[in-house]
Amino acid sequence: MMEVIRFAVLGVGHIGRRHMAIIQGHPETELVGLADIRSSQIVDQGDGVIPYFSDLTSLLTEGPPFDVLCICTPNGLHAEHALQALRAHKHVVIEKPMALSRADCEKVIHESLRCNRQVFCVMQNRYSPPITWLKSVIEEGLLGRIQLVQINCFWNRSDQYYLQNDGTPHTWHGTKSLDGGVLFTQFAHFIDILYWLLGDIEVIRTDMQNVAHQHNTEFDDSGNVIFRLIQGGGLGNLCFSTAAFRQNFESTITLIGENGTIKIGGQYMNQVEHCLIQGYEMPE
Ligand SMILES: NC(=O)c1ccc[n+]([C@@H]2O[C@H](COP(=O)([O-])OP(=O)(O)OC[C@H]3O[C@@H](n4cnc5c(N)ncnc54)[C@H](O)[C@@H]3O)[C@@H](O)[C@H]2O)c1
Repeated sequence: MMEVIRFAVLGVGHIGRRHMAIIQGHPETELVGLADIRSSQIVDQGDGVIPYFSDLTSLLTEGPPFDVLCICTPNGLHAEHALQALRAHKHVVIEKPMALSRADCEKVIHESLRCNRQVFCVMQNRYSPPITWLKSVIEEGLLGRIQLVQINCFWNRSDQYYLQNDGTPHTWHGTKSLDGGVLFTQFAHFIDILYWLLGDIEVIRTDMQNVAHQHNTEFDDSGNVIFRLIQGGGLGNLCFSTAAFRQNFESTITLIGENGTIKIGGQYMNQVEHCLIQGYEMPE
């Protein structure tokens, strides 16, 4: 008989609802519990069939048994929610970013080993066709030594994004403690792609500035990070901003290897814009 995996979702906002829909649409998974500090978030779901709770502690102590908790709360709460769930012997799916500091990520990993539970982080861009293709090109060594990497992330975050519907400041966007900054909330996927493709880096220099969001964020909205690839020693540059005019502009990665040049672009690093590799023809 097929074993059904029982899920609960913590944080029933924008992305929590996506988790709910995916769990409910999969034959091997069942959604058995929800929790959110704002009951309106859950009542909005309409059917009222799934038991819901006002916080994680009540879900864990009073809710139905389940196997996996999807953590879809604001960034700054991911680590404490993951630690609490792991200690209650749940596997966790953590929305990006895993946590807001390396120390917190390490605590979560340590706790998962201690409790013998799995931690899954949501990094869906790794599975986009251009990125899976690029990963295979790098692993097969087709580019030779990577000499230079350029990542550009230029998006727009309007004033509206940092407000609630009633015009008051957003509950977590723009705050240092719960949002953490644009490298966490907007560009985490692209930083993950960098590490996923090329391994660890050594940061040489960073310059950051809040060029357009001084009035509504507690962190810099733009910056430039110069780094070196640990493996092979190539130079890299990450240039990012949420101050692009009116709309998201691009998220691109350009790799200059000794045997080829590749640029993946588009709004979400999802289109091959250039590929020229010695003795290689790009598949359709
Ligand atoms: N994978 C992706 O591409 C992607 C896309 C969007 C958001 N996210 C991530 O998902 C997370 C949530 O983002 P969102 O856009 O859904 O935000 P949201 O504000 O729409 O939802 C967050 C929900 O968490 C609830 N919440 C806050 N504190 C809580 C607590 N202590 N206990 C229980 N519930 C609590 C809020 O009431 C809200 O309903 C963030 O970490 C964000 O970075 C990931």
